[in-house]
Amino acid sequence: MGTWRVGEGDLLRTQKEVEILKYGLQNGINVIDTAEMYGEGKAETVVGRAIKNFDRDSFQLISKFYPYHATPKLIKDSLEKSLKRLNTDYLDVYLLHWRGDTPLAETVQGLEAVKKEGLIKSWGVSNFSTSDLEELASVPDGENCQVNQDLYNLTSRGVEYSILPYQKKHNIDFMGYSPFGSDGNEYLNLKDEVGEVAAQKHISIFELLLAWVIRNNNVLSIPKTSSVDHFAMNLHAADIEFTPDELELLDKIYPKPTEETPLDTI
Ligand SMILES: NC(=O)c1ccc[n+]([C@@H]2O[C@H](COP(=O)([O-])OP(=O)(O)OC[C@H]3O[C@@H](n4cnc5c(N)ncnc54)[C@H](OP(=O)(O)O)[C@@H]3O)[C@@H](O)[C@H]2O)c1
Repeated sequence: MGTWRVGEGDLLRTQKEVEILKYGLQNGINVIDTAEMYGEGKAETVVGRAIKNFDRDSFQLISKFYPYHATPKLIKDSLEKSLKRLNTDYLDVYLLHWRGDTPLAETVQGLEAVKKEGLIKSWGVSNFSTSDLEELASVPDGENCQVNQDLYNLTSRGVEYSILPYQKKHNIDFMGYSPFGSDGNEYLNLKDEVGEVAAQKHISIFELLLAWVIRNNNVLSIPKTSSVDHFAMNLHAADIEFTPDELELLDKIYPKPTEETPLDTI
């Protein structure tokens, strides 16, 4: 479950967000994605309230630090604050949210240090292109990068060209963010034909979008929802399969990339 924009509303909305995360954990969710940026720590606080009574080993917790906190000292400061808000003593994965000015070698050094201390189990990056990943691999311990998290949905398929193959080759897990094009869906303006494919399958467009992102079992998607009904739909997406004809049709509506394109981000 994603948590961008969580914790930014009134008390009632925040309580609802705590409940939906708990509901998620009770119903099969095993990854929660958050960041120090989300509500400047408010999303992490909501997650901390939600996970309080759950067995910490039964799910993975991922958070991210700002690029301007990417030096060894600031990474440790940020991490300690995140852990406190999250009510936990470790993260499963800690991500550099996007690339900034700090040299990658310095950031990796900081991440390896907090890993050695047991404060994180692994680390990764976000919004990295293939060339960023190649550069990362060239710095000391850079090959320990476990995850890259990039935008991925039906209308934004650029990562299929070289990022997904590169990550597969180098055993770096791929997390796709914003499967529905983000909150309010302001970034996703779907063509009508997608609705027709969904209607023929008797599923909602949201189920189609999510099932499509995870269709090859090589992408971890982190949809965000604050509704139990939406959550149930999103869980159901894990059981939806596409026929080759349906996939071909979707490829016609939103073609696969045929060349390297600049990385899409939100
Ligand atoms: N690394 C990065 O730079 C980065 C960038 C963006 C996002 N992320 C991560 O990825 C997560 C997901 O992306 P996102 O939050 O941008 O957007 P998203 O998951 O693509 O879309 C969230 C929107 O979809 C709605 N929704 C969810 N399930 C639905 C359903 N079944 N039917 C109808 N509407 C549904 C939600 O409304 P309701 O709440 O009403 O259900 C919300 O408005 C984030 O929360 C964050 O953790 C990372």
